[in-house]
Amino acid sequence: MQLEQQASVRQFQEDLLTWFKGNQRDLPWRLDQDPYKVWVSEIMLQQTRVETVIPFFNRFLDKFPTIEALATAEEGEVLKAWEGLGYYSRARNLQAAVREVHEQYNGVVPDSKTEISKLKGVGPYTSGAILSIAYGKPEPAVDGNVMRVISRIFASYDDISKQKTRVKFEGIISTLISVDDPSSFNQGLMELGALICTPTSPSCSICPVQKHCLAFEEHIQHELPVKAKKKKPKEKKLVCAFIKNVAGEVLIHQRASQGLLANLWEFPNVELTSDAKMEEQLAEFLRNDFDLQTTIGEQIYHVEHVFSHLKWDVTIFEVELLSQGITKNERAEWVSAKEIQSYPFPVSHQKIMKHCLQL
Ligand code: ADE
Repeated sequence: MQLEQQASVRQFQEDLLTWFKGNQRDLPWRLDQDPYKVWVSEIMLQQTRVETVIPFFNRFLDKFPTIEALATAEEGEVLKAWEGLGYYSRARNLQAAVREVHEQYNGVVPDSKTEISKLKGVGPYTSGAILSIAYGKPEPAVDGNVMRVISRIFASYDDISKQKTRVKFEGIISTLISVDDPSSFNQGLMELGALICTPTSPSCSICPVQKHCLAFEEHIQHELPVKAKKKKPKEKKLVCAFIKNVAGEVLIHQRASQGLLANLWEFPNVELTSDAKMEEQLAEFLRNDFDLQTTIGEQIYHVEHVFSHLKWDVTIFEVELLSQGITKNERAEWVSAKEIQSYPFPVSHQKIMKHCLQL
C-alpha cells in the first residue's frame, strides 16, 4: 500500500501510533510534557545517543530543574554539567535562549513556530520537536533517524545530508502527521528509526509500517538512505604543558570566548607550526604567552580526540618552572587538584587531568 490516498495515510498513522504506544522506551524526558524538559532533552539528543544522554539529562535537571534555575546559573556551572557531552555551543545557546524566555516571555516557552524559532540554537528540528511533543502541534520534527525512515518508506535516493532534502521531508511529514497525536507520531518515527529501521540491518520483518514501505517492496532498504561521505577530519598536532608550582598547584588556561570549546578550560597548549623540536616550541609558547621560564621535561602522555571536522593529536610534557610562576596571562590560573575538578574541561583534557594527577 502506498501513501498516496487519505485512507492509506490514516492506516499509516494508526499502524505507527499503535506500535509506538506499545513499544516505546521508558525515557526520562517522556515522564511529562514540560516544554523546558522537552527542550533540554532535544538539545542533548542532537548528535548524541540516547543512552549517553540519559544520565546527563537526569543530572542536568536535578541541578537546573526550571527555566529560572538555568537562566540565573553561572555559565561555568552549566558548562560543567555539560562536560563530556560535547558540542558545548549547545549548552551556551540553550542558556542564552532560556534567559530570553525567562526575561521576554515570563518564563513560558513560546508555542508559536515564529517565536520559538527566534530563540538561539532552536532550529527547524528542535522547534518542531518542542511544538509537537510539549504543545501537541502538528509540526514536523525531522532528525537523522526520521530522514532514514522517510527515505526508505518513499524509496527516495535524495542525499539526506542536504538541507533541501530535509525541507522536502518536512513537507512530506506535514501531509502524513496525525493531527490527533502529533507528539506520538513524531516520536514514533524517531523510535522506529532507533529500534527497527536501523542504519545497517533494519528489522523489516517486524516493522509495523512494512506494508507502507516502498524500499521494502523494492528490496532496496539496504541502499538507503543516501548520505554524502563526510570529509576526513583535518589533523592538528598540539604540544601541551603539565606544570606544577612550588605549592603543588597546576597551571590551567581558559579558552577564548568564541570558537571551538569556547570558555572551557585546558592545560596550556599550542599548535606545532614548524619542524623545530616540540620541547622548543612549547618553551617558547610558555615564555611568550605566559611569561614563564621553564625547562621541558619528559613526555608523559599522549591523547587523540576526534571532533566533527578536526582531529587533535596532543603530546603532553612535564614542565619544570624556573621562574616564580607569576603569569600575566589573564585567562590562566594556578589551581589545586581539588579545585581543578570544579572547572569544565573538554574530554581530551579531562583525560590528561586524570592521568597526570592520578585522579
Ligand atoms: N531523538 C531525538 N529526540 C528523541 C526523543 N524525543 N526520543 C527518543 N529519541 C530521540
